[in-house]
Amino acid sequence: MRSYFIAGNWKMHKTVPESVALAKELVAGLRGCGEKLLVAPAFTALAAVAEVVKGTNILLGAQNMGPEEQGAHTGEVSVLMLKDLGVKVVILGHSERRHSYGEGDELINKKVLLALRHGLEPILCVGETLEEREGGRLEAIVGSQVERGLAGVSAEALKNVTIAYEPVWAIGTGKTATPEDADAVHAYIRKVLARLYGEAAAKAVCIQYGGSVKADNAVQLMAKPNIDGALVGGASLKADAFVPIARFRA
Ligand code: PGA
Repeated sequence: MRSYFIAGNWKMHKTVPESVALAKELVAGLRGCGEKLLVAPAFTALAAVAEVVKGTNILLGAQNMGPEEQGAHTGEVSVLMLKDLGVKVVILGHSERRHSYGEGDELINKKVLLALRHGLEPILCVGETLEEREGGRLEAIVGSQVERGLAGVSAEALKNVTIAYEPVWAIGTGKTATPEDADAVHAYIRKVLARLYGEAAAKAVCIQYGGSVKADNAVQLMAKPNIDGALVGGASLKADAFVPIARFRA
């Protein structure tokens, strides 16, 4: 049976004590859960949360990182610093980074390659805006975000990459893509991956869905053949909302 990758993106929420408290609740609530589990707290809480999740079935993730290893880059956090704290996964190209902070595919690709070079698993986020969807550009946008985000990634390294399909209009809005719509885009992403890496490699890539995932839509989403997990924002901020998503099979 395949295991799903369920990730919580805490975004710019929670102080250190609040993060530690949530992480402790998740450790207790998710003990024995067989899915691949991740929490991505704010940078400031990574060290404290690392202590809580150490030795458990929950991996530690970061929400972003700088495109360089080190140097004069005020305000950036380096891959080396993340590794130092026990971070295993890094979310890259989130739509909030793309749209609020002007990150483009080239910069995101640089981060993807850097993460892979240092043994971190990137979650590469892609997704169209409502305007792009309504203008019939969904496939062109998502396809090029995938292709450009993965430029220079070898077939071997692709095994460590997760793609998160997050339609921008569904993030934090309460609007979810229907499971059928989401699955169709995931299938399209797999088609793009197959063109770049071959069928077998494309089939093996984990593609998460993100955008207003909740306990009550998780089962239907995960039932779809091309949906391999979830990247959860709002509903990851409370244990009683996140645990049932991760335990959607129960
Ligand atoms: P949401 O966020 O679950 O609050 O819609 C998802 C995300 O941005 O990763």
